[in-house]
Amino acid sequence: MALCQLRNVKKIYPMGDLEVQALRGVDLTIEKGEFTVIAGPSGSGKSTVLNLIGCLDRPSVGEVFLEDKPVAKMGDTELGQLRAARIGFIFQSFNLIPVLTAFENVELALRLAGYTDGNKARVERALADVGLGDHMQRRPAQLSGGQQQRVAIARALVKAPALVIADEPTANLDSHNGKAILELMREMNARDGVTFLFSTHDAMVMEQAKRVVRLVDGLIVDDTVRPAVQAGSAS
Ligand SMILES: Nc1ncnc2c1ncn2[C@@H]1O[C@H](COP(=O)(O)OP(=O)(O)OP(=O)(O)O)[C@@H](O)[C@H]1O
Ligand SMILES: [Mg+2]
Repeated sequence: MALCQLRNVKKIYPMGDLEVQALRGVDLTIEKGEFTVIAGPSGSGKSTVLNLIGCLDRPSVGEVFLEDKPVAKMGDTELGQLRAARIGFIFQSFNLIPVLTAFENVELALRLAGYTDGNKARVERALADVGLGDHMQRRPAQLSGGQQQRVAIARALVKAPALVIADEPTANLDSHNGKAILELMREMNARDGVTFLFSTHDAMVMEQAKRVVRLVDGLIVDDTVRPAVQAGSAS
């Protein structure tokens, strides 16, 4: 069973009297356990692909499947629940809630995913896993950029999602922190089999990917599965 699939997907954004063809017919299948990067120039459609796979948006043409279910047939409530429970998001600008502590940010994701019992232990484990066991009571402004992105990773992973989507997760980090964050995600992929789908401009991220899908002008121009890359080789 494919984890998610885009079939002949087009995305057209209206712009006044004009329209922007962000995706012009994309077929993409992501299998469980993949560690895939979507690469391509600015404006090529990377974020659009991630938003469609993450069900943050719907296609203009074509179909999106999540765990073999057609997304088009789901109502907004069902889709919202599926997204909260099965997909973790990591954003370039972290998107933590500023008034909540690291613990509370992670716990909120669990509650939105429908977890009611055992949350404290789950949150503590997720934050310890990203090396923030001693910083759980800090708010985002009291953490460095790298630490904030670790909270975002803990928030994405705490609910044991089927898929983690990361839109340029290292873009706001220096190269040292970017490497450390990437290594952490590689370890989680290798250890727990978490499926990751990224977009990036960063050559270091691309080198670590098992599969690189290249987009140009809304079309996939290359899709390469690379020989095994070992977790921990990002240094
Ligand atoms: N909400 C929108 N309204 C109109 N046009 C949009 C919208 N979102 C994206 N676009 C256009 O769709 C195309 C693809 O955008 P997208 O954000 O997917 O590119 P990207 O590859 O992620 O770029 P970047 O590397 O700069 O993040 C671009 O031409 C962009 O201007
Ligand atoms: Mg983008």
